[in-house]
Amino acid sequence: MDLPITTLKQELEEQGIIVIPGFFDVSLIERLQQSAKAIFDIQFQHLGIEGDYLSQMITLFEEHLDVFISCGKMIQSGMLELYQIAVHPELIQLLHDLGLEMPAMCTRPVLFFNHPSLAKATHYFQTPLHQDWTSMLSSADSVVVWLPLMDLVHENGPVIFYPGSHKLGSLTDKLENGFAEVDFDRNSFPSLQANLQKGDIAIFSTLLVHESGVITNNEIRWSCHFRYTNMLSTDFVERGFPHPYIYKPSQELIDQYLKKSS
Ligand SMILES: [Fe+2]
Repeated sequence: MDLPITTLKQELEEQGIIVIPGFFDVSLIERLQQSAKAIFDIQFQHLGIEGDYLSQMITLFEEHLDVFISCGKMIQSGMLELYQIAVHPELIQLLHDLGLEMPAMCTRPVLFFNHPSLAKATHYFQTPLHQDWTSMLSSADSVVVWLPLMDLVHENGPVIFYPGSHKLGSLTDKLENGFAEVDFDRNSFPSLQANLQKGDIAIFSTLLVHESGVITNNEIRWSCHFRYTNMLSTDFVERGFPHPYIYKPSQELIDQYLKKSS
């Protein structure tokens, strides 16, 4: 890292976002993307789906939606490499140095693969203006670490951040499709849409307003995010560590799969 930690900490407080180029080894990031692709590859081979990667993905999505969703679920939160990056000692040390004295993951690490051709509805590949905080109710100093698994160009639709908007505090208490959409004037703050490269990371306040950029090319946008709350933050302690996420098995899906195999 080129900048001293005190400068980064101050920038995070002021802007609500910092971008750190080359934080992770590129090979670590490439390994994660290869593992994600390999999970789909297993099913492409099994089902005899050929072609370039995006067309294979589209075929799986259009002709075997249940398999596509199952692959997606494993990729989104099931890969060992994803957890290895989320708990990488250097990242945890950085969070600690940035002021999260006792960081804990308040949601599972998530890997996203987004493209308009691989979604039934816009909100699955393009998030509206929102804050992450409402869905987690995490500590006031909680942060999201966001990183791409590819070298982004404008056409990949990188996230658009609105630096300084975290100072507005929480702007909504409502979720729609899992997102805390906010009423926010894009012209009231400067915007930042950075073409991060493999290995770069963005760390932003969970209160920062942001939205997806628009994907205009034929490439899947691979990215991941990790969310950390501070267990020693007074406000979080006083609120009793709320945790509004639910992860549970679905009887409906169990019935569906068991019926299929019998
Ligand atoms: Fe978000």
